[in-house]
Amino acid sequence: MTDPFQNVDAGGTDFVVAVANALEARAQEPVMVKIVDDYLDLIPYPPGGTHIEVGAGTGVIARRLAARATNGQVISTDPSLGLVAAGQELGADISNLSFEVADGGSLRFDDGSIDTVLFHTVLSHVPDPSILLAEAARVLRPGGMLVVCDADFEKTSLSNFQGDPLDMCAKYFAENFVTDKYLVSKLRGLVANAGFYLTSFDMTSRLITHGDGGMVWVGMGGQNMVNAGQIGPQLAEAMVEEYHRRKENGSLYGHLPFATLVAQR
Ligand SMILES: C[S@@+](CC[C@H](N)C(=O)[O-])C[C@H]1O[C@@H](n2cnc3c(N)ncnc32)[C@H](O)[C@@H]1O
Repeated sequence: MTDPFQNVDAGGTDFVVAVANALEARAQEPVMVKIVDDYLDLIPYPPGGTHIEVGAGTGVIARRLAARATNGQVISTDPSLGLVAAGQELGADISNLSFEVADGGSLRFDDGSIDTVLFHTVLSHVPDPSILLAEAARVLRPGGMLVVCDADFEKTSLSNFQGDPLDMCAKYFAENFVTDKYLVSKLRGLVANAGFYLTSFDMTSRLITHGDGGMVWVGMGGQNMVNAGQIGPQLAEAMVEEYHRRKENGSLYGHLPFATLVAQR
């Protein structure tokens, strides 16, 4: 199966809404708030600067970037018309934030015209991340900042014991809803090859012990197995129930490492 994040709109309206809700919810998790705050602390906000997020979805991170870059402009770009439309509503009252439909491999900006390019969980969802990194290098001014935050999906886990069915859902998600689950291991080389100088590369654990963060794996993964005729709807529902049972009795234990790379043009 092709990673549905390569073309979110093709999944239909229900999928667009589910993705929009999942992205908005993920960004509110305390660990994700900290990951984003930490990298937003590392970049300068020059007066009149232009900062772009590529593959921004609903722009939930771009909104936070705009709150920092009050003396500049933030442009939230994504190829999905549905996600951009949702983002435009959510960010309507933020004066220094605008939204555009764009593929990260072909941006409209002039060479050397941008201060910051941000990719937050995008490069693991594209067939050739070097194309998007080359485009980022083109539009960034010399000294401009590149921020890449992505999940090390190869290590996705929702496992409490050997053969745990919830872990099967997490692994299924990493296999079928991600284009390159090994992206993070290749990231430093890709960035260097695109002409950037690495400033920092760090890893943070996204632990899932509360909330519905891991439900994306169980819900979307399970539904996909049903659609593919691999399991019946009863089993998918039972796995969702099991997720909630663990959430309520304090035994929920999901884990996904997130890497943050900062580099300079
Ligand atoms: C997991 S979502 C992340 C969205 C957002 N950055 C966030 O973290 O909330 C991946 C995003 O990558 C976008 N995407 C997929 N292919 C892309 C491409 N070629 N160029 C730019 N964005 C792309 C998808 O439309 C989707 O919104």
